[in-house]
Amino acid sequence: MKKILILGADGMLGHDLAKVFAEYNPWLWDKTELDITDEKNVMEKITITKPDIIINSAAYTNVDGAEADNEIAYKVNADAVGFITNAAKVINAKVVQISTEYVFSGENKNGYNEEDKTNPINFYGQSKAAGEKILISSGVDYFLIRTSWLYGQASQKGKPRGKNFIDTILEKAKTNDDLKVVNDQFGHPTYTYDLSQAIKSLLWENYPTGIYHLINEGVASWYDLAKYALQIKNMNAKIKPCSSDDFPHIAQRPKFSILNNNKFPKLRNWQLAVEDYLNNK
Ligand SMILES: NC(=O)c1ccc[n+]([C@@H]2O[C@H](COP(=O)([O-])OP(=O)(O)OC[C@H]3O[C@@H](n4cnc5c(N)ncnc54)[C@H](OP(=O)(O)O)[C@@H]3O)[C@@H](O)[C@H]2O)c1
Repeated sequence: MKKILILGADGMLGHDLAKVFAEYNPWLWDKTELDITDEKNVMEKITITKPDIIINSAAYTNVDGAEADNEIAYKVNADAVGFITNAAKVINAKVVQISTEYVFSGENKNGYNEEDKTNPINFYGQSKAAGEKILISSGVDYFLIRTSWLYGQASQKGKPRGKNFIDTILEKAKTNDDLKVVNDQFGHPTYTYDLSQAIKSLLWENYPTGIYHLINEGVASWYDLAKYALQIKNMNAKIKPCSSDDFPHIAQRPKFSILNNNKFPKLRNWQLAVEDYLNNK
């Protein structure tokens, strides 16, 4: 049986990866078990453990924070990918690296294909794009998976479980019936459980290594997503569409977070996945 190591296992995606790969008894490591920016420890611990597959879901994911914390964001999202691939090379392990649509500018409303050139517009995107380049030139066998707008049962460590965009909107709608939600940014709301299942298929069904865009199908604005979640929960709160100018962020956001999946069977439509998530929470 293949031996699997999941890095960033306490994160939102890591939580569902752990669930989906449970039958393989994966090692579940987060910062406490291994800080991926510690080059020496990464080499030592990974080469002693000798996994066949390393799934790296660990990342610095605070998009606005990355504008100020350049150094740490780059270390986690770029340098550490090099530390992991160096260790993977020694033990001949395959690396699954999770990346993001933020490596693209988001100007193209037709979306981005797997082999399109990256051109990020904020520091988080730059650091993730640098990590991609390190992976691609490392010489290891890799799956580079870009995804977008994740939500799932768990959330970032330290925050209550399930505190993602959908849960936040539903919570706010309980007390505020005049919600404004951004209607000029578009993406693929993607369920971490569906993504984890797709990663498992990618590995077990002998797909060729390389770059994949794995997202729930269909495109939504944040407003569409909020409205749909309220509808599924039969909540009557009124929400109003607004412009992203009404919610300014430190880091610029891509307008069209749209990824075209040309290489893997399409995942289910985002509405079906949201419904499943909300009915099974
Ligand atoms: N969330 C999204 O909408 C989204 C969209 C597209 C792509 N992605 C990508 O998907 C992947 C998973 O994202 P996510 O939303 O599950 O992120 P997340 O919830 O923030 O999980 C990332 C995990 O990595 C850990 N980590 C951070 N620095 C580390 C270090 N130096 N050593 C070891 N572990 C470290 C974090 O711990 P701490 O919390 O303690 O820092 C956290 O548990 C990332 O690669 C992200 O870039 C996310």
